[in-house]
Amino acid sequence: MGKDVIIACDFDSAEKTFAFLDNFKGKKPYVKIGMELYYAEGPSIVREIKARGHKIFLDLKLHDIPNTVKKSMAVLSRLDVDMCNLHASGTVRMMEAAIEGLTRPDGTRPLLIAVTQLTSTDQESMENDLLIHERIDEVVMHYAANAAKAGLDGVVCSPLEAEKVHARCGAGFLTVTPGVRFADGDIGDQKRVMTPAEAKRIGSDYIVVGRPITAAADPVAAYERCVSEFCD
Ligand code: C5P
Repeated sequence: MGKDVIIACDFDSAEKTFAFLDNFKGKKPYVKIGMELYYAEGPSIVREIKARGHKIFLDLKLHDIPNTVKKSMAVLSRLDVDMCNLHASGTVRMMEAAIEGLTRPDGTRPLLIAVTQLTSTDQESMENDLLIHERIDEVVMHYAANAAKAGLDGVVCSPLEAEKVHARCGAGFLTVTPGVRFADGDIGDQKRVMTPAEAKRIGSDYIVVGRPITAAADPVAAYERCVSEFCD
């Protein structure tokens, strides 16, 4: 599986998204469509970006009863996305149902990855709000192992967790890591960050990069810098 840079297109309209993507001329970067853009524009934004030739990670983080997730995944699969995701806390049975729903009649399916614990959840909120009393890094690894057991392809995780996930779930289990910043860039609201070169060194399979590219004076140059640090 080739390493790739996924651009987080965190825009609130199709117009802003296309204005951004138009900068790339002939290039077709892998893009992430999250809840903001999807809820603003609906499935047509996925079809339009796909028709322009981009690969798509649809980041909708499903979490519901297994039957609902299975049927929703079947719909997303027909949208022809390349990668989608769900919350591992929905249980192994929910994840297995998701795989079933996602698998097309010809046996193909988009990659499916799991969110373990959100990076906005810390030990204190996990204990007080969720009544989970294990260590958060153990919870993250346990959820990753559950995702592997259910047949998923990988997890979204902090770049700092990628090595441990590979050690626990196998080298072929994908790690998709946000929280990437250039050594000379702003870290913004991200707490634990890594450069693209560091993410490559610790074995991330995909990096998800938003503002370092979308807010750059020259987004194409920023994207190419990510590609050369991470992929080459
Ligand atoms: O702009 P920035 O590079 O921080 O964007 C990172 C992207 O990755 C955003 O779309 C954010 O929602 C997503 N993400 C994250 N941390 C997670 C999961 C997803 O930053 N744990």
